[in-house]
Parts: sequence; structure tokens; C-alpha cells
Amino acid sequence: MINISTNYAGIKINSPIVVAASGLTSSIKNIQTAQNYNAGAVIIKSYFEKENYRTGPTPNFKILKYGGKGLVSSSFYSFEQAYNGDIYDYCKFIENCKKKIKIPVIASINCFSDEAWIRSSQLIEEAGADGIELNVSCPHGVHSMNGRNLSNEYLNSFNLVKNSINRIPIIVKISPQSNNPMRECLHLQKNGVKNVVLFNRFTGLEIDINNEEPILHGGYAGYGGFWMINYVLRWVSEISKNLEINISASGGVYSGKDIVKLILAGASNVQICSVIYQFGFEIIYKIIKDLKKFMTEKRYSKISDYRGKILKKIKNNDEISRGQSVYYSINKELCSKCGKCKKICIYQAADYNQGKKIFYIDKDKCKGCGICQNLCPKNAIFEDSLAKKI
Ligand SMILES: Cc1cc2nc3c(=O)[nH]c(=O)nc-3n(C[C@H](O)[C@H](O)[C@H](O)COP(=O)(O)O)c2cc1C
Ligand code: SF4
Ligand code: SF4
Repeated sequence: MINISTNYAGIKINSPIVVAASGLTSSIKNIQTAQNYNAGAVIIKSYFEKENYRTGPTPNFKILKYGGKGLVSSSFYSFEQAYNGDIYDYCKFIENCKKKIKIPVIASINCFSDEAWIRSSQLIEEAGADGIELNVSCPHGVHSMNGRNLSNEYLNSFNLVKNSINRIPIIVKISPQSNNPMRECLHLQKNGVKNVVLFNRFTGLEIDINNEEPILHGGYAGYGGFWMINYVLRWVSEISKNLEINISASGGVYSGKDIVKLILAGASNVQICSVIYQFGFEIIYKIIKDLKKFMTEKRYSKISDYRGKILKKIKNNDEISRGQSVYYSINKELCSKCGKCKKICIYQAADYNQGKKIFYIDKDKCKGCGICQNLCPKNAIFEDSLAKKI
């Protein structure tokens, strides 16, 4: 029997999938749906002290697509504003959630004045929230947009909230826009922070070149996408390897495999958001199915069997063995003679033999970089079994 329970900031949750703060979690109906699909917890849409940040323009979503010819990517670009109510509405919503929802319900706040951090967190704790995320890292929130020093804001908000409440855990949500999230987290840990979310989203700009103006609302917006996962994996692994801080991973998770990777890298749980906006809540079911499939195949019975398992395997730069160990060859039977490998090989190792009318790779010139194998449309290029070791 597979047990996928884990913890969020020390709170036991029945599955590692946490629905991240967003419009997804601003109604009881959606939270119930998330619960029905076996989400472990939900983070409620953030409350903002600044009143004008509570109402959004429309439209506020755009799926940006890049690339072509088989190499495509997308970003989920959005300018969704905060919870559409004041702190009393927000607390009523929490109370209502606590009556109707069984899974942990975590609040999320973004305040500006010291008084609001203190008063809001007290009211939220009284309303029964199971935890509180501090969201000064919102990509289009007041702190980022006013160019404030987020490191100071993390700690200032944490200290204010810590001194105002005493029952529920506090979780600091970090921006990916930092030159060193590891140092950021070390500093937070030294100052008493025990739980972080890695990460919020980036702040970006998209331009309509026909009208020569920014799209949507005409300003900066939040963006992320499945491409973000590698950035998150890098920092989750490094921070989990070196610090004692509890990590909720967030950013670029689209599949059960992504969750597995983040757990292998040391995350305690994983938040998902954009994938639900784009595929519906049902995707939680599919993600859990894939997660369980992985655990069955690997014979893991619980999350702790593999959490952080890859950390010892990450080499530092000085440990990496350098030099060429492989080269590539073309399987003539599979090759469609499209000529792509010849076009892209910067070492002129892939070439066309006019006499034999075949594409081939010159073993002496091939540096074993592997790019042609990745891009061959027919999977006709393979790593040679007679690898030349240096
Ligand atoms: C439309 C939208 C609204 C969001 N609103 C909030 C919010 O109110 N508070 C917050 O802390 N994060 C917010 N986020 C960030 C998400 O909680 C999450 O951290 C981020 O989207 C990265 O995860 P993902 O790649 O799965 O989307 C929002 C994200 C999106 C896409
Ligand atoms: S890219 Fe692949 S299919 Fe195209 S010529 Fe090279 S080996 Fe053949
Ligand atoms: S592996 Fe790199 S060096 Fe070798 S043929 Fe392909 S592209 Fe050229």
C-alpha cells in the first residue's frame, strides 16, 4: 500500500500536492474540487492591504507561445489581482472554509504597513487558518513594483507576524528574482524562519509589435511555465542540501514526474497552479496517478523513502570528470536524409557522402556533443557503443 502523505510547514497532509495561492482558491467550490481530487492542502488567494490591488482588469491571462519546428515552449502570462475583499471578508472566507473543508487551509497575505501585518495575521489566526504564507514576492505586487528590497521585506514581515501570532506556522514565499536564493534562505533561517515556498513567479513584459504597446493591462505581469522547473529544482536541491529549512516547491510543475523530481531534490511538498488554470482541477488526479506509478515501479511505500535521494549525487564543478567519452553514429536504415545533422554540427563531423548517397558522422571529427541526436527527426543518431575514452 502506497502512502503519499507528507507535511506542509510541519502540518501533516495526505498528499504532496498543494494548490498554490491564486484565483483557483478564492471560492469554496474550487477548494472542494481540489480536495475531492486529493490535494493535500490549499493556499487561499492572497489578501492585499492595498485596496486598489484587489480589483483586476480584464482580460488578464495570455498564453504566450514561442519557437516552432518541433521546438516549442509557452509561458502563462497573467495579471490577476488579489482577493477581492477586505481583511474581514477574507477572515469570513477562512471561517467558511474551516467549516466545509477537511484539508488544511493556509492563508496568504501581502501587507505594506506594520500595523496591517500585525492586525491581519492576528485576525487570520483567530479565523482558524492552519498556516500563513507571507507573499511580499508577488511579481506585480506593491513590494516588487516599488523596487523595495525583498530580503528586508521577508524578514520585516516575518518578525511582525511572528510576534503577533502564536499557534500557526509562518511560511515565507520567496521570489525567483534574487541573485542567490540560497543566501536569502540562509539569512532567513538564521533569523528564525523555518518554512519557505520556492518560488513565486517572475515579473515580465510582453509587447504587441503591431500596436507597439504592452499587452493586456499595459504594464508588467507575472509569468511562468513548465520551463521554470529546472530553476526550481536547482535551488530546492541546493537549499535542501545545505539548510534545515522546510521547502514547499512551486514553479513549473506540470506532471507527476515533476513532483517526483522535486521530492528527489528535497521538497516536502509541491505547489501547483498554472497547470490547473490550463488543464482544470482534474489534472490533480492524473498527477497523483503518475506519482503512485513511479513509487510502485521503484517499490517506494512512502515519500520519505526517496525525498532528497539525489542530493548526494549532485557533483560540484571540481568533481566533474571532463573530456570526451562518447561519439555518435547514424543508422542508415532510419535516416530520412533530411540533412539537419549536417546543418547544425558546428564541428563539420556530420556530412553527406555523394558517392554512397548517405549521411554519416566522421568519428574523428565528432566531439560527442549530442545535439544532433536530440534534434534528428527520425531518431536515427545513436551514441556509439565503442565509446572512445580519454
Ligand atoms: C493567475 C495566478 C495568480 C496567482 N496569484 C497568487 C497570489 O495571490 N498569491 C501568491 O502568493 N501567489 C500567486 N500566484 C503564484 C502561484 O501561487 C505559484 O507560486 C506560481 O504560479 C508558480 O507555480 P506554477 O508554475 O505551478 O504556476 C499566482 C499565479 C498565477 C498564475
Ligand atoms: S538529422 Fe537524422 S534523419 Fe536527418 S540526415 Fe541526419 S541522421 Fe538523417
Ligand atoms: S554529436 Fe555533436 S559533434 Fe558529433 S556529429 Fe553530432 S553535432 Fe557533430
